[in-house]
Amino acid sequence: MSIIKINAITVPADSGDELGKRFAARRDSMEGTEGFEGFELLKPADERTTWLVITRWATEEAFENWRTSQDFQKSHSGGESGSGESPKKPVGMSAELWSYTTSVTG
Ligand code: HEM
Repeated sequence: MSIIKINAITVPADSGDELGKRFAARRDSMEGTEGFEGFELLKPADERTTWLVITRWATEEAFENWRTSQDFQKSHSGGESGSGESPKKPVGMSAELWSYTTSVTG
């Protein structure tokens, strides 16, 4: 049974695909993260302005370890750590963390 952590990020209405571009640029930073099983960034297809980052973890502990690690910074800091990107203002206006487990799959 996987642990599912969803980060719900609300962005300004006119921010276009900027969040998607930033996630694509950081995708590789998750490679080798212990207990990390993958993520999907879901973009709203209606009038909503909240994007969902659906992440899947082997255990709660694996998520907590990542959340408090340097690796989390690597995925989130504004482009330091030798990534070659210049620091940018965050796109998101607010973010909320939701925790789920799988109940039924079809
Ligand atoms: C459930 C796990 C996660 C949590 C709790 C989390 C936390 C956050 C928060 C609070 C923000 C909004 C702050 C901001 O706009 O900078 C954010 C944005 C972001 N996160 Fe995550 N995140 C998670 C998963 C991931 C993963 C797996 C990646 C790697 C691909 C990632 C990469 C990013 C990027 C690129 C942004 C946009 C930053 C920007 O606006 O420039 N996040 N995350």
